[in-house]
Amino acid sequence: MATASKSGIPNVAPMASIQLVSDDTIWIMDNYMVKTLENLKENPITALYFYDQDTKRCFQVKGATEIKTSGPDYEKFRDQVRTKGHKYPAKSLIIVKITDVFECTAGKDAGKKVL
Ligand SMILES: Cc1cc2nc3c(=O)[nH]c(=O)nc-3n(C[C@H](O)[C@H](O)[C@H](O)COP(=O)(O)O)c2cc1C
Repeated sequence: MATASKSGIPNVAPMASIQLVSDDTIWIMDNYMVKTLENLKENPITALYFYDQDTKRCFQVKGATEIKTSGPDYEKFRDQVRTKGHKYPAKSLIIVKITDVFECTAGKDAGKKVL
């Protein structure tokens, strides 16, 4: 998950507590985010990279985020994440509204806008 500070300093970190909840919405759980969360508070735009091992395709997803620390969506995802491991603090839900998707598989379609 890539973010940037207000002044444009980039940051990237791996995220596994992640779920596609609808065609245009992704949920990510903030368990251990530090710079990521600081950046999102001052600059809500994110970029995500996904690689599908089976198809060997990869995608860049861009989106606008919202941070939730309470409410039904937060509680639902918190409970789901905690069933995988009680150790997870599940501090906040990062809702990503997808704005753009690009193909990043090497080859003729590299860089093409998919959505
Ligand atoms: C494979 C992997 C998956 C991870 N998944 C998550 C996650 O879903 N949520 C989270 O908050 N941290 C997750 N982490 C930990 C963060 O990547 C780590 O705390 C990182 O320092 C966060 O970056 P930041 O400090 O720049 O925000 C994961 C780490 C690894 C190695």
